[in-house]
Parts: sequence; C-alpha cells; structure tokens
Amino acid sequence: MNQRTLLIVKPDGVSRGLIGEVIRRVEQKGLHIVRLRMIYPRRKCMEKLYDIHKGKSFFEDLVSFMSSGPIVAMVVEGDEAVRVVRSLIGPTDGRKAPPGTIRGDYAISISRNVVHAADSLERAEYEIEVVFSEECGDF
Ligand code: CMP
Repeated sequence: MNQRTLLIVKPDGVSRGLIGEVIRRVEQKGLHIVRLRMIYPRRKCMEKLYDIHKGKSFFEDLVSFMSSGPIVAMVVEGDEAVRVVRSLIGPTDGRKAPPGTIRGDYAISISRNVVHAADSLERAEYEIEVVFSEECGDF
C-alpha cells in the first residue's frame, strides 16, 4: 500500500553533515521525497511533535535538543513507507541499532540518534501536519 511518512534529520545529524547521507539512503531504497523543509523549530512545535512522550523523564531534554538547531523534515512516499523508513533508520538506541541502518552506522546514543521517523500511519499524518505548519519555525 502506498503511504506517506515523516522523516526528520535531527540537529545532531544536520551539524554532523549527514543530511545528504540520509537523503541518499532514502532515494537509494526507491522511496520518493515529496516534500522537504529545513527549519529552526520552535520549542512549542517540538512539544507538539513529541506529545506522546510528555511526562517521560527524557521529554525536557528531547524538546530542548530538538529546538537547539536546524532540522530537515521530509515527507517520504512509497510502498509501505512507514515500515520501510523505520527499518532504514533502525532501533531508537544507536548502541543497539544494527550496522547498515542509519542509527546503526551513525549513532551511539539514544538521545542523539540522528533521525526521527513516524511509527504509524496515524502518527505520520499528525506529525507531517505539525512539522510542515507555518508556525513550526522558520529559518
Ligand atoms: P525519536 O525516534 O525521535 O523518538 C523519541 C526520542 O526520544 C527518541 O528518538 C530518542 O532520541 C529520545 N529519547 C531519549 N531518551 C530516551 C529513552 N530513554 N527512551 C526512548 N527515547 C528516548
């Protein structure tokens, strides 16, 4: 089934010069980038993006980190895109992510893990709306 999902290169990925690498892997897989936006996100927008983690111990660090620098958000389209993009990025914890995945190859931390991707079709729709809204941030 053709789907659209959200993929974000986080501030650590941008500052480490990994935008091109992430895009390359997405395109190499045969997925299509149908929207692309670089923004310096407002704190409020990142709170909205991560609403499901509100109240968790890492929420404050997560939101501050995500609004600490520019991010690159993209809408990725393709067959089973939600699941395929999640498999490209690998598990959340870079220490556990297998080599060959983006996190497995570029992260050794859970909080600075280079990328984020929606984990369901419902979340993808919600997160795309949040991050691509005008008030999320500008550059
Ligand atoms: P992400 O896929 O962006 O979704 C939520 C983020 O919270 C996650 O990646 C991690 O970067 C971050 N995070 C920090 N600490 C934890 C933790 N203990 N468990 C899960 N996610 C965490």
